Amino acid sequence: MSTHQLLPSSPATLPWRGLIHRYRDFLPVSENTPIVSLNEGNTPLVPCCHLADALRTDVEVFVKYEGLNPTGSFKDRGMTMAVSKALEEGSRAVMCASTGNTSASAAAYAARAGMTCAVLIPSGKNVALGKLAQASIAGAKVIRIAGNFDKALEMVKQLTERYPITLVNSLNPYRIEGQKTGSFEIVEQLGGEPPDLHCIPVGNAGNITAYWKGYKELHERGLTDRRPVMWGFQAEGAAPIVHGKPVPEPETIATAIRIGNPASWKQAEAARDESHGLIDMVTDGEITEAYRMLASREGIFCEPASAASVAGLLKMNKLGRLEELRKRLGKKTLRIACVLTGHGLKDPSYATECAEPPVEVPTDMAAVLECLGLEP
Ligand code: F0G
Repeated sequence: MSTHQLLPSSPATLPWRGLIHRYRDFLPVSENTPIVSLNEGNTPLVPCCHLADALRTDVEVFVKYEGLNPTGSFKDRGMTMAVSKALEEGSRAVMCASTGNTSASAAAYAARAGMTCAVLIPSGKNVALGKLAQASIAGAKVIRIAGNFDKALEMVKQLTERYPITLVNSLNPYRIEGQKTGSFEIVEQLGGEPPDLHCIPVGNAGNITAYWKGYKELHERGLTDRRPVMWGFQAEGAAPIVHGKPVPEPETIATAIRIGNPASWKQAEAARDESHGLIDMVTDGEITEAYRMLASREGIFCEPASAASVAGLLKMNKLGRLEELRKRLGKKTLRIACVLTGHGLKDPSYATECAEPPVEVPTDMAAVLECLGLEP
């Protein structure tokens, strides 16, 4: 696959110094911005042949493996911008509500910047253990409320309006600015062209907003000749945009997108409509199937919420929507990019629940051979 440079400096020849350095011309930073970076971005766009085969139609499918960012999710793209700008503006503290990944990222970037970080997380098992561990070890003040994410976000919004604390949820416009670089990388990795179709999980709806903004900016600057169709996917039990009304008690095994009243609702609808795309939903069963398939056929371990992008693609294909899109675009081969937003290691307990447990045998060669079905 060829790599096309939107900018003269080449990541292949220069050491990668993070996405603000790379895409400075596209971002609201100046010489005075103290850049807080963990060298985020530059994640691989991996071709997935088994997935393409499973679709049984003429496609090239790639996944943008965002789990390979420094804290294991796409949130780092937004957080390098949000924390750098907070520091530039003299802020000493950041805060967010989170289903886990935003808190892990905020805690790490705040630690690096020498800032205080507080996070408000939903009750019970709704934050995967890995994410909680990340925020805690980075020294964030982790506060768990009895309510869900939507309630936590409401409280954090009020709090950051009243106190000198910077909100680093995706309502912070710098988060969106940083996250839009995901689309820049995809275009570069596809040889200077956008994909025909971009599939993405939707929770609080910041990321679909950011990717669409990125694709639009490249097009407006004349760097690409078109924009992709955006397909966003919510979990069935947490699909307010699909139903057209908030879901008071969202439910899904994909805890990262267990959100009933997304902050960027309108922007997500704009991305859908302007791109002639769709926002649909996938069941927990469909998410789990895609999650297992990615790990067991492609060797790519993402967290359950991330697999919603692939689950949605598989579902839409079954409904004939890929063929419809191919006809509409007049393309022989459709090029598809799916964002895998977070690493599978964030939530090892779901993986172990889904997979075969280890076989216990005595420390004995005969027992091991028997287990492998081999002759002694
Ligand atoms: N995938 C993962 C792994 C996430 O953590 C999130 C959001 C999404 C998808 C959805 O992205 O909210 O921009 O539509 N996680 C947030 C958090 C809510 O607190 O970590 P979105």
